[in-house]
Amino acid sequence: MSEVKLEDIVSLCKRRGFIYQGSEVYGGLAGTWDYGPLGVELKRNIIHLWWKTFVQDRDDMYGVDAAILMNQKVWQASGHATGFNDPMVECKNCKARLRQDHVEKDKCPVCGTVGKFSEPRQFNMMFKTNVGPVEDDSSLSYLRPETAQGIFTNYKNVLDSFYPDLPFGMAQIGKAFRNEISPRDFVFRSREFGQMEIEYFINPDDWKPEFEKWVKEIHEFLDKLGLPKNMVHELEVPEADRAHYSERTIDFEFDYPHKRDELLGLAYRTDFDLGNIAKATGKNMEYRPKDGSKPFVPHVIEPSFGIERAVMAVLVSAYKEDEVEGEKRSYLALPEHLAPVKVAVSPLLKNKPELVKKAHEVYKTLKKEFGNVMYDDNGNIGKRYRRQDEIGTPHCVTIDFDTLEDGTVTLRNRDTTKQNRIKIADLISAITN
Ligand code: GAP
Repeated sequence: MSEVKLEDIVSLCKRRGFIYQGSEVYGGLAGTWDYGPLGVELKRNIIHLWWKTFVQDRDDMYGVDAAILMNQKVWQASGHATGFNDPMVECKNCKARLRQDHVEKDKCPVCGTVGKFSEPRQFNMMFKTNVGPVEDDSSLSYLRPETAQGIFTNYKNVLDSFYPDLPFGMAQIGKAFRNEISPRDFVFRSREFGQMEIEYFINPDDWKPEFEKWVKEIHEFLDKLGLPKNMVHELEVPEADRAHYSERTIDFEFDYPHKRDELLGLAYRTDFDLGNIAKATGKNMEYRPKDGSKPFVPHVIEPSFGIERAVMAVLVSAYKEDEVEGEKRSYLALPEHLAPVKVAVSPLLKNKPELVKKAHEVYKTLKKEFGNVMYDDNGNIGKRYRRQDEIGTPHCVTIDFDTLEDGTVTLRNRDTTKQNRIKIADLISAITN
């Protein structure tokens, strides 16, 4: 388990504008979260890194962005309409409804009563809705519980438009929705969350080596997120616990503050989904090898990342506490490519127009170069450094009276707190390196 406390992460996220409770001003809506100005930048940086790594930097990937609402037949064919269930029990004392496997020692976590639960019943986690003005069975639809089906339903379109060679992958980033019985542990178990998914289409003969390649690529990506290797663990999921479509699953677990828990999944989905589409629609899902050999329905390896779980793992990995000049400091040692703000620029004193003017000049130059640069003149310089440390800003630039004399500024490093005098003309390269 992580040594970082969940309450420290939650409190930092709220205080500094990373993540807020959804609909908070109206009393909240359980299992929903809103990203504030810094959280949205952090999340976008993670998403961008994923898309660049797995789509843009490769020749075998095709991105899609499918509709969230899909024909109800998708969910009948995929097995979700009948099988996407969690076992639910009700406390006979306080009527709380709980996921059976979340109940410990037969004790109700809400009222504390022991041993007074109803028999478990299966609860389907899909959010239902109706499409169009008539509310009947024919207009029934669902908010998608996984982005994957929007990939499978477009497999044939991509095959027909791009004639890819096998193996090739299709990738999608988007929202997924699950009516979790008990959302909990901050954003870890939410009812609305983001997924970054790949369906990688392969020749079934190659599934074992292809699976192993993905294990390696996932570890490389988690390195880029700055997760310490010793906090990431592979769990070979036993057959009884695997999703209905999977013949092999590895859960990549992370040492979260609440416990070691699933960060992402890697599944061998076989031809389960394409086979179901072929059966349900009568359409041919076969791939025709260009060498004229026998057509076949490809099998699928699926790496499935949860965005919120990645955000939380990044925050937990980056959260540090130390002592600076006799005072306790907490800071986020985020990898530079994920930090919401790369550089903060401050005048030493905000009531000296000549310092303010120069600080604005430097700010504009850096903003043009890096984009995510913040002008910060709130409070005294010590407070600004602490605030920037807490939000994970790797570099702080301070303009003082010497700047006006000799054109140098103070460049401060977040992790070491060391300060260097440096010429304005050298700032961009010092920050880039
Ligand atoms: N398409 C495969 C699939 O959806 P999953 O294991 O059910 O597989 C994949 O979900 C990932 O989505 C999980 O590893 C996790 O990162 C994320 N995820 C699932 N349920 C979640 C929830 N309630 N809140 C936040 N993330 C969730």
